[in-house]
Amino acid sequence: MTDQNGRVDDERRDRAAWLASPGGRAAVAAAADARQKAPGDALRAGSLLRGTLDLPSDLAAAALEQAELAETAALRHGIAETSLLFTRDGLEAATRPVVADRRAQALARGGVRRVVDLTAGLGFDAAAFLRAGLQVTCVERDPVIATFLRHNCPDATVIEADATDPEVLASLLTGLEPTDIVFIDPARRDPSAARDGHTARARPERDPERWSPPWSWVEGIEHPRVMAKVAPSFTPPPGWSAEWVSVDRTMVECTVRSWVADAPRRTAVVIELAGSTAQVEADGDDAPLTDSLGPWLHEIDPAVVQADALGALARSEGLAWLGPRTTWLTGDHRSTHPALRGHEVISDLPGNDRQARRQLADLGVTAATVKSRDASVGPREVLRALGLREGPGQAVVVTTVAGRQHRVLVGPAQPRS
Ligand SMILES: C[S@@+](CC[C@H](N)C(=O)[O-])C[C@H]1O[C@@H](n2cnc3c(N)ncnc32)[C@H](O)[C@@H]1O
Repeated sequence: MTDQNGRVDDERRDRAAWLASPGGRAAVAAAADARQKAPGDALRAGSLLRGTLDLPSDLAAAALEQAELAETAALRHGIAETSLLFTRDGLEAATRPVVADRRAQALARGGVRRVVDLTAGLGFDAAAFLRAGLQVTCVERDPVIATFLRHNCPDATVIEADATDPEVLASLLTGLEPTDIVFIDPARRDPSAARDGHTARARPERDPERWSPPWSWVEGIEHPRVMAKVAPSFTPPPGWSAEWVSVDRTMVECTVRSWVADAPRRTAVVIELAGSTAQVEADGDDAPLTDSLGPWLHEIDPAVVQADALGALARSEGLAWLGPRTTWLTGDHRSTHPALRGHEVISDLPGNDRQARRQLADLGVTAATVKSRDASVGPREVLRALGLREGPGQAVVVTTVAGRQHRVLVGPAQPRS
């Protein structure tokens, strides 16, 4: 058994080394070319590649997989660089460059000079630290990923080791200044776990003690400045600051750090790929509540909700909250804050399904989108109950007003300026 595992590991390692070699790079370029000539036809791309290069089948498959992963990286993360090497799981776990760059540049601006990345993966965070001008040491325990990491981050020092090995950690920490950063992005998913056909995977990402390394180990690292990338649902330990980051209104991650200037902070970072980045700092005070619907409803960015920064945002924008468990602010004007999306209220739909249908027919509404994340009812159910088609433009918001579930017809999200 040990022999067989050893042989499989050797084969994976050899293939990874070949992919990083000039011969492997040429094969990946030829595979990318073949995939472009045969879009959507993996079999034909394979035979085109083998017609160009005389490769054993496992190396041809590895080159084609890299070409496919590079397409995914370009599509999902906007990574135009074609020379990087990926694993499927590594790409899924990788930090988006826009988020990694922002974090790295903030550290550099704060005077940080050096980072030890204890779980560097394919090196997306490490590459951002390097781009920000920091000195980077990476640790990665998986031999294939470590090979790709060396290739992807040639300017970093890469150590193939288990970061939880006390000797490895001690030797890394000994060389650090108190202002240097120990960065860690624990693996929250087990790549060997079975894939689930319907949902993502049946995995332990929600339990910090089942991450690798587990959270209790991270919390015990004896260094004054530890920064960790964690799941958005994570509850920061007392004394740690946290930032919840959304990109184009999708929650992507939370970063926690062990060192604080005065008191721990909770911050929402709202990144718009085509625009600006805004921050909202939680101040511990609740948002002003209202029982009445104003002429404008504002959808709150999920990072603000996760950071409990709703109160600060509502007060700064002169808006009121429809109540706990709702994600809408209302008021008599439209806010252009990047963390809010303003919709003009067209009509409250207070009655039963039949009355609401009649009201919608009188308004000439036949199609809408549904925003029902405050309720336990799904969009399809709402559309069916109201006799509407799914369509762009107007939206039906299902939320709570004065403690009761309400459906409200609103106009499309207004552009901010
Ligand atoms: C979430 S990924 C890191 C992704 C990385 N931040 C990026 O953006 O590319 C976590 C990585 O940690 C590695 N890892 C998990 N436990 C480890 C340990 N005890 N020591 C070293 N590496 C470990 C995994 O192999 C995986 O590649």
